[in-house]
Amino acid sequence: MKLLEDRIREDGLVLPGNVLKVNQFLNHQIDSELMYALAEEFVKLYKDEEITKILTIEASGIAPAIMTGLLLRVPVLFARKQKSSTMNESLYTAEVYSYTKKVKNTVSVDEKFLKKEDRVLIIDDFLANGQAVQGLIEICHEAHADIVGVGIAIEKSFQEGAELIRNQGVRLESLARISSFADNKVHFVEDADNE
Ligand code: G4P
Repeated sequence: MKLLEDRIREDGLVLPGNVLKVNQFLNHQIDSELMYALAEEFVKLYKDEEITKILTIEASGIAPAIMTGLLLRVPVLFARKQKSSTMNESLYTAEVYSYTKKVKNTVSVDEKFLKKEDRVLIIDDFLANGQAVQGLIEICHEAHADIVGVGIAIEKSFQEGAELIRNQGVRLESLARISSFADNKVHFVEDADNE
């Protein structure tokens, strides 16, 4: 998606360790109009899927997810990384290891918000090693809900997450696909295809 790629080129900062800092519009300050545009794209891609629920994970997945939920007029459910004091019900849980932060979180969703009748679109901001999305997929399996697909804002295609998801037969749509950070610049998959 050109709008997102242009914004990454303009405001993204490549940090050591193959990390892209996008605090200007996604991970700290949020550009709501850009989030709305991303959501329009997800809706276009998944328009025939009769989605009943958006599933994401806190924190940064919530912004694109909520815009998508708004456009589809469906609820947005986010998996929590810490059990809140108000979550006393039965939970679906999954273990999510963050390679970036070297921590393991048990993420959870209240059983009453995810049903076997649901047709779920999973949304997240980044796809790197895929552990977060994998955890959300597992939670959908626990609930016996149908997974329509996954919508990602920024995919780091050189990491293993995309393959991990596609290998399970789950549809994956990423709006910006980064092939490398060579020379501290962001290279998109399309660039590499045209070279
Ligand atoms: P995964 O999300 O694909 O499982 O990969 P990984 O374990 O490597 O990522 C852990 C966290 O780091 C995730 O956010 C993920 O979105 C984020 N992340 C991965 N690569 C990048 C990157 O290049 N740039 C930025 N800005 N983030 C990256 P999280 O811990 O869930 O954080 P948050 O959503 O609470 O902000």
